[in-house]
Amino acid sequence: MKEIKILSNDKQGIYSELLPQCESLIKEERELVSLLANFTAILKQTFDSFSWVGFYLIKNGRLILGPFQGKVACSVIEIGKGVCGTSVQKGETIIIEDVDEFPGHIACDSGSRSEIVIPIFSNNKIFGVLDIDSYKYSNFDSVDKANLENLCYILSERISKLDNSKV
Ligand code: SME
Repeated sequence: MKEIKILSNDKQGIYSELLPQCESLIKEERELVSLLANFTAILKQTFDSFSWVGFYLIKNGRLILGPFQGKVACSVIEIGKGVCGTSVQKGETIIIEDVDEFPGHIACDSGSRSEIVIPIFSNNKIFGVLDIDSYKYSNFDSVDKANLENLCYILSERISKLDNSKV
């Protein structure tokens, strides 16, 4: 495992440098839990503005907490509840500029101000979500959405090839 190196200061530049390093990390990993754990680590250590980075994974019709980096979080989220459950229900990425403005937002950390949730599909089925929080208002925009969706797509392709991809 190589050390992650980023030289850019602007957001798109950082994502562009991160992409090949993230791809090689994903390609080398054969274990689902290790893959997801390192994926959260690479994002958390790259972006200072990310306070929490983690997965919620579909299990028995609910979302359960997966590998993450950050403070202790709630273990179960019902589909349709919170930002994560709503993202699964809609099958689309959700950006919340101010969590207090989102009815039903589930607060795991009272310091959290904004959030992005990206749904992940594997073998054409919903697999779970990537959830990222920030202590800054409006931390996430279309640059994050495009780049994180791309990274999640690359991740999902890898997940579908693992023989132990069941949660
Ligand atoms: N805020 C999320 C819950 C998970 S924590 O942010 C880690 C939600 O509303 O679904």
